[in-house]
Amino acid sequence: MPGGHRIGLLDALCRGLNGYARGLASARALGILVLATVAGCGDSARDEEAWEEDRERLVESLVENGIDDPLVLAAMRKVPRHEFVPASVRGRAYDDDALPIDQDQTISQPRVVALMTQVLGLRGGERVLEIGTGSGYHAAVLAQIAAEVYTIEIVPELAESAAARLDRLGYSNVSVRQGDGYLGWPEKAPFDAIVVTAAPSHPPPALVEQLKEGGRMVLPIGESGEVQDLYLLEKGADGVQTKRLVPVRFVPMVGEAQKKKDSGDR
Ligand SMILES: C[S@@+](CC[C@H](N)C(=O)[O-])C[C@H]1O[C@@H](n2cnc3c(N)ncnc32)[C@H](O)[C@@H]1O
Repeated sequence: MPGGHRIGLLDALCRGLNGYARGLASARALGILVLATVAGCGDSARDEEAWEEDRERLVESLVENGIDDPLVLAAMRKVPRHEFVPASVRGRAYDDDALPIDQDQTISQPRVVALMTQVLGLRGGERVLEIGTGSGYHAAVLAQIAAEVYTIEIVPELAESAAARLDRLGYSNVSVRQGDGYLGWPEKAPFDAIVVTAAPSHPPPALVEQLKEGGRMVLPIGESGEVQDLYLLEKGADGVQTKRLVPVRFVPMVGEAQKKKDSGDR
């Protein structure tokens, strides 16, 4: 990365200042000055190498938890999750936890992102649809493997910021659209795979329709505020096969999904 050397020097300077500050802990007047300087040496000053070490540890924990697809592990090793979370939680970017993002939403837990991606069985060259762009992180992971990723986010501010972030990070094979993912993206269908990262109470019919024959869809199904189940749907010539995977907890799918649920109509 072009700026890596400069950031590395800044990181070293910050580490030195942190040591100096500890030495001056009792010198009050100077302490205020030094601590003010050190406060500016947060995670933003970390160099790429430090983030990579954190990412490697995360990947090791994914392997321990059953993720074994080399393409998924390579994608998780590559995507800079710290670029997708707010500065206030950046230090926890590589913890295996869901974290808050803007607009009261969340970035999914890395283990769940990896599992959902793994069960799709992507081998490269696919066209994938994601519902629930959020930060754009899962779209970036998918884009490391698939040829084209289409992702829909219902909250305009999130759609806009994720599109700008993915563009800045060079994910030119991801297209972001603001809208209701319950209805899918018919102009770009059919899709080899669909990932849904907000929970509806039932599989959205438009998404099943937009899945290619032989395609796979992974989605959480269940009530909001409760543990839901992650399902894998496989569309074959004779219909759709459904397999329940693991319990998960996602935010609810809002918009048309909720209207249909409330009216009992699909
Ligand atoms: C758990 S977050 C997604 C995390 C995201 N995949 C990431 O990597 O950061 C779920 C997202 O789904 C969005 N969402 C909820 N209902 C939706 C709908 N009907 N259509 C599209 N997005 C929806 C929410 O606004 C939220 O951003």
